[in-house]
Amino acid sequence: MAASLPTTFDRPVHIAVIGGTGLSQIAGYVPVAAVTPVTPWGTPSSAILILEHAGVPIAFLSRHGKHHEIAPHEVPARANIAALRSLGVRTVIAFSAVGSLQEHIKPMDFVLPDQIIDRTKGIRPFTFFEGGVVGHVGFADPFDAKISQVVQSCAASMKGEGVTLHTGGTVVCMEGPQFSTRAESNMYRSWGGSVINMSALPEAKLAREAELAYQMICMATDYDCWRNTEGGEDVDVAMVMKYMAANSENAKHLVGAVLDELCKQENTDLVLAKHWEGSAQGAVKFM
Ligand code: ADE
Repeated sequence: MAASLPTTFDRPVHIAVIGGTGLSQIAGYVPVAAVTPVTPWGTPSSAILILEHAGVPIAFLSRHGKHHEIAPHEVPARANIAALRSLGVRTVIAFSAVGSLQEHIKPMDFVLPDQIIDRTKGIRPFTFFEGGVVGHVGFADPFDAKISQVVQSCAASMKGEGVTLHTGGTVVCMEGPQFSTRAESNMYRSWGGSVINMSALPEAKLAREAELAYQMICMATDYDCWRNTEGGEDVDVAMVMKYMAANSENAKHLVGAVLDELCKQENTDLVLAKHWEGSAQGAVKFM
């Protein structure tokens, strides 16, 4: 599809979705271009689709590549965030499949985290500020409370369609590609972790450095391995894919509803993320 689309788009795009495992398209949005900005940090994971809905353009980027060929530790997160920013993006909805670390978060439930614990191992390039460019951004609250409100109200109106959203909670971002050991999984539970994935970081940190408003929407696909001490099935890729496929319609509808709302607000401070302006103290000039 992307091959026949124009490769340039000449209007600013303020809103983006970063799709993860299982979210590769959004119903009702028509692709009008497929662009591949070249940034000082390389090119993004895949061509960025520009989708149009009611005249408002949205950028859609597949975090793991068009054919899911990029492992979590290989995602070019700096190029992804810089490329979105170069298009004019100021608001990012990031989608991720996660393992549940809590009994009450069931596979197929959605979670809107408000905190992150960093368990990546420092092997992923995680900052724009290096090589003589020094900057320190606040990261006490890694997600955007205003976007979170929008997601909450959309999910509330979809309860009848079987959408369950848990508001707040901590996503543990681990280094992959292997899943956790049972001891690690239990340790994350003892730390108060709600869900676990391999994708929240460094993406969320880089979004903050680039002064983008960023909120992750998680969808539980498994109970990680803490729950299966008495001989159940441990998480594997097939399990993640099975639940992702089973709930992909709800995922698309939820993200679509959030986009509808953001499109209505396209010229407001929320979408233009004025509240983050200056947070990077002008240390990096993005294109
Ligand atoms: N993504 C989906 N399920 C996961 C799990 N159990 N651990 C890490 N990342 C995941």
